[in-house]
Amino acid sequence: MNPVLARRYRPQTFTDVIGQEAAVQTLRNALTAGRVAHGFIFSGPRGVGKTTVARILAKAMNCRRAAGPTAEPCGECEACVEIREGNAVDVIEIDAASNRGIDEIRALRDNIRYRPARDRCKFYILDEAHQLTADAFNALLKTLEEPPEWAVFVLATTEPEALPATIRSRCQHFAFRPVPTALIRERMAEICGTEQVVAEPEALDWLAEAGEGSIRDALSLLDQAIAYGGGQLRGEETRALLGRVSDRALAGLMAAVAAADSAAVLAGLEELLATGVAPAQVCRQWALFVRAMLRAKIGAPTDGGEAAAAAAAPFSEEDLTRCLQILLRANGELRWAPEPRLHLELAAVKMAQARRLASVEDLLAALGGGPESGGGAATSGGGGPATSGGGAASSGGSPKSSAAAHAGIGGGAATAASATPPARGCAP
Ligand SMILES: Nc1ncnc2c1ncn2[C@@H]1O[C@H](COP(=O)(O)OP(=O)(O)OP(=O)(O)O)[C@@H](O)[C@H]1O
Ligand SMILES: [Mg+2]
Ligand SMILES: [Zn+2]
Repeated sequence: MNPVLARRYRPQTFTDVIGQEAAVQTLRNALTAGRVAHGFIFSGPRGVGKTTVARILAKAMNCRRAAGPTAEPCGECEACVEIREGNAVDVIEIDAASNRGIDEIRALRDNIRYRPARDRCKFYILDEAHQLTADAFNALLKTLEEPPEWAVFVLATTEPEALPATIRSRCQHFAFRPVPTALIRERMAEICGTEQVVAEPEALDWLAEAGEGSIRDALSLLDQAIAYGGGQLRGEETRALLGRVSDRALAGLMAAVAAADSAAVLAGLEELLATGVAPAQVCRQWALFVRAMLRAKIGAPTDGGEAAAAAAAPFSEEDLTRCLQILLRANGELRWAPEPRLHLELAAVKMAQARRLASVEDLLAALGGGPESGGGAATSGGGGPATSGGGAASSGGSPKSSAAAHAGIGGGAATAASATPPARGCAP
């Protein structure tokens, strides 16, 4: 796996790094103030800039154009060039995934005692640091406890929880974020400009989305798409190449679910699978779409989900929670199933049924609460979003009253909305 564009367009300065403002700004401030820590943890998902920022920090510490650490390494001096090319003697990159052993850390400990050969600091980047063995961590801990003044460590990891607490407490922790789709898209548009690739806006949308927060993944998909399209990126072609499902298709499926129309859901699904998208991919994207719908309903921040927000209108928070649960379960089962398609169909029908159950709840609530209990909510056919919004309003089974009915039961909705997600890692 050697994505050409990702390598060619690796940011060389802090300014070029996108989507990691918190980490970058804090590092810049520390550099300017001359107060850089000895140990860092850079955690976060794959391909979001951990190694990139570690290398920029190495340049910032060692740039020879400046008298001391600088937030603006020149990029041209010997140290900067060597670091960029990966052959600076005082910047040591260790891939902990392939060097799990204590030997490497022992060697590191022996080696670190000597002053840097040329540069101001000896800079160690331990990639995939969570893979180190317990013995290696112990050896590392001793070094982190009393690092020589010239040593700086960056432990880059996708699993910070897997690092021992003793190590964590001795490092400054930066949590790198998945990069927002809009920023990835912008970056890809720039790159296409430089590469003189003509890209339809829709093609960039698909690619950026398919990166799922990882710039490296998005860029390697861009590589493939360029190779495939011969320097031209067309929207529909790119979608097909990526095997993605459009938001429009997902919104259509959810409209059928809203109408509790099992037949329409199945027909929509059939049509989708006929275009050659894998059931697992449909399920994954469907779950992500419903998640975006749910977040829109709750008012939680989402990453570019206008289609999802619109599709969420006829549903209550509880409806969507139920749908998400059904899809997540299917997602788990599907992976090992010999007939993944059946699991997906089952999930689709269940969602439509769940919607019908919700309507029965409405009905019961209406029976208990008011004289007008004329049902009919369950029989809404056809199902564009228009019918589920408009038609239902007259029938006492409106989505609004459904939400109200649910909220009435012990105020569950309020607690769900106010529950905060568990904290992930420590913020810088
Ligand atoms: N924040 C970013 N801004 C701009 N480009 C980025 C960013 N993050 C990643 N990239 C692009 O993706 C490539 C890989 O990034 P990097 O090696 O820093 O990822 P990583 O977070 O270390 O991932 P991994 O956990 O897989 O090692 C870079 O060469 C660059 O092209
Ligand atoms: Mg890395
Ligand atoms: Zn320099």
